[in-house]
Amino acid sequence: MPNRKSSFKNRFSFYLLAIGSACGLGNLWRFPYIVGENGGGAFLLLYVFLALTIGLSLMISELMIGRYTGLSILAASRNVTAKYKKTIVGLSWFSLTITAMTLSYYSVISGWVLHYLTQFVTSLFYDEPVKYLSNTSVNVLLQSGWLQFLLASVHLLITSIIVLKGFGEGMEKKISSLLPLFGILVIILLIGSLSLDSTKDVLRFLFYPDFSKLNWSSLGHAIGHVLFTLSLGFGTIVTFGGYLDKDEHLPTIGLRVTLVDTAISIIAVLLVFPIAFSSSKQLATDPSLLFDVMPMFLSSIKGGVLFGLIFFLFLWLAALNASIGLFETITANITEKNQSMSRSVATSLSGILIMLMTVFPAFSGSIFKNVSIMGRSMIEFFDATLINVFLPIAALGIVMLFFLSINKQTRKKLFINDSMPTSIAMYSHWEFVLKWVVPVVVILALVTLMIGAFLRS
Ligand code: PFF
Repeated sequence: MPNRKSSFKNRFSFYLLAIGSACGLGNLWRFPYIVGENGGGAFLLLYVFLALTIGLSLMISELMIGRYTGLSILAASRNVTAKYKKTIVGLSWFSLTITAMTLSYYSVISGWVLHYLTQFVTSLFYDEPVKYLSNTSVNVLLQSGWLQFLLASVHLLITSIIVLKGFGEGMEKKISSLLPLFGILVIILLIGSLSLDSTKDVLRFLFYPDFSKLNWSSLGHAIGHVLFTLSLGFGTIVTFGGYLDKDEHLPTIGLRVTLVDTAISIIAVLLVFPIAFSSSKQLATDPSLLFDVMPMFLSSIKGGVLFGLIFFLFLWLAALNASIGLFETITANITEKNQSMSRSVATSLSGILIMLMTVFPAFSGSIFKNVSIMGRSMIEFFDATLINVFLPIAALGIVMLFFLSINKQTRKKLFINDSMPTSIAMYSHWEFVLKWVVPVVVILALVTLMIGAFLRS
């Protein structure tokens, strides 16, 4: 299996990679508008609770499948007993299809980031860069399908080349090791944003939970985002788990990745909301939020053009890293299933297919402006249906794969670390959450989403 034994020479590089894949546009771009759409504090609380229970439990189970089988989901699902094999293989294909669709959609949003990056670079060649930047509206971009398609294709091409060269062979480690610098930049910007007058209102909005703001769709939105931001349900963490050293304690890894990702999401809302609140009375609660407010804020502060350039460069690198994770999942699954297919053929064929899929989200605001699927525009369909509906179903499929491919004794052995007494106590809680809480809550979320959609129509 080519490149499967990718070397995480030390634990730190695995963390960088896993965190690098988890932290991406989901944290900085998607989370703020989802929190805005669902009314703030109460949703934030619900989200954090679900991330630390359902998200963490699922993350450990995915890491375990990868570690135990050494395979990605498609190949692992073929070892399941005959009775369930067809269902599990089918669900694994479903996951893989979602991964490909997500990558196409993710490439379009990464293209938006590339657009702003080039705008900040171009502005340096103008006498009045701030004036130049003030003319950049996200709406112009949204209406230009060809521009979005072109930018998404460039992003996808760069991702494919890196994946083609082989996962774990340097590039994504380099990108991952740059990302802590992004963290520092975000904290500097956070200080600037929290010193705005609107901060008091924002803190009240985010930390005084008003449960009456939750609606029928909130649970579904929270579960969907937990899965998306922690890269669960795609099979990515299973593939990553297969790369890990045998002596790593998986629950500890899962906990650290979940905590860091959740902390970054909270920092993201603290960064974006003060700016959004002070720039308009009407809070944008759709995908344009980050792109509506960040460029304006950046170009208005001292040295902001440079800050803006670095911010969008890092944001794009984070998006690139996450895209590599998504693409690697697809390539690993295909090459493991079909061992006669080379890595380059698998990557090129899937790259072309994904590029064709980007047509739908990219032209959503232009050619497909009048197309509506279940009452949603093309890009809204990609976002909401893929993440809130399909992804949770795929995650349930992975839970089934987990219970069918690892027996109780092995699960216990993989979970418990003798030098950590808490792991003995946690073991039964974790299994209970995975076996009962995850399916019940996911099904409940899907039902309430349907009720919400029905009431809205
Ligand atoms: N977790 C990423 C984000 O929050 O942006 C998205 C993602 C990356 C999902 C990689 C899946 C994946 F394999």
